[in-house]
Amino acid sequence: MSEAKRLAAEKAIEFVDNGMVVGVGTGSTVAYFIDALARIQDRIAGAVSSSEQSTARLKQHGIEVLDLNHTGNLSLYVDGADECDPGKCLIKGGGAALTREKIIAEASEKFVCIVDPSKQVPVLGRFPLPVEVIPMARSLVAREILARTGGQPVWRDGTVTDNGNLILDVHHLSITDPVAVERDLNQIPGVVTVGLFARRRADVVIVGGEPPQVL
Ligand code: A5P
Repeated sequence: MSEAKRLAAEKAIEFVDNGMVVGVGTGSTVAYFIDALARIQDRIAGAVSSSEQSTARLKQHGIEVLDLNHTGNLSLYVDGADECDPGKCLIKGGGAALTREKIIAEASEKFVCIVDPSKQVPVLGRFPLPVEVIPMARSLVAREILARTGGQPVWRDGTVTDNGNLILDVHHLSITDPVAVERDLNQIPGVVTVGLFARRRADVVIVGGEPPQVL
């Protein structure tokens, strides 16, 4: 699948215009995008990064990493996903970077999602849904998620997010109404971010292949 990821990432470069500050996601597909971005770094103004991991890779390439508070809204955000449904709703957060990813997606005019074909699903939920939680609320949120969805929350033990929080991965969901589930789980006190990107979903999905598909 790594070749498919690379092909999707290379195709996304076509969405980068001269002088742009580019929003950059997190993960193995995005790593290919950062490498491709490095080749055209002379014609971009910099990047806003969604994780310490992506920041390190951007800086290794000499790409300037800017603060979203200073750049204001962005024209373009490029990120991967763990699952993508036909309506371009996504599950994200397999790499625990969901909160910063959701902030940049919200701040961006166009969200281009780059995936390999294995990420395409008819209904979201086979991939356990990541939820970032404030540490003291971990058990409370887990009980509440179980009651509201019937899904099984599992603490991703050993993982601390870039924001100092924890991740619950919710198993056994079948998310037929992603907007409603995102809205509902967001209401639970202690939830920082739900890894459903439905209200602000992708605008464009690029599925890696020969040739890449732009949906
Ligand atoms: C990071 O938290 C995630 O949202 C990633 O975007 C997602 O896990 C995709 O990762 P890969 O590109 O490594 O499959």
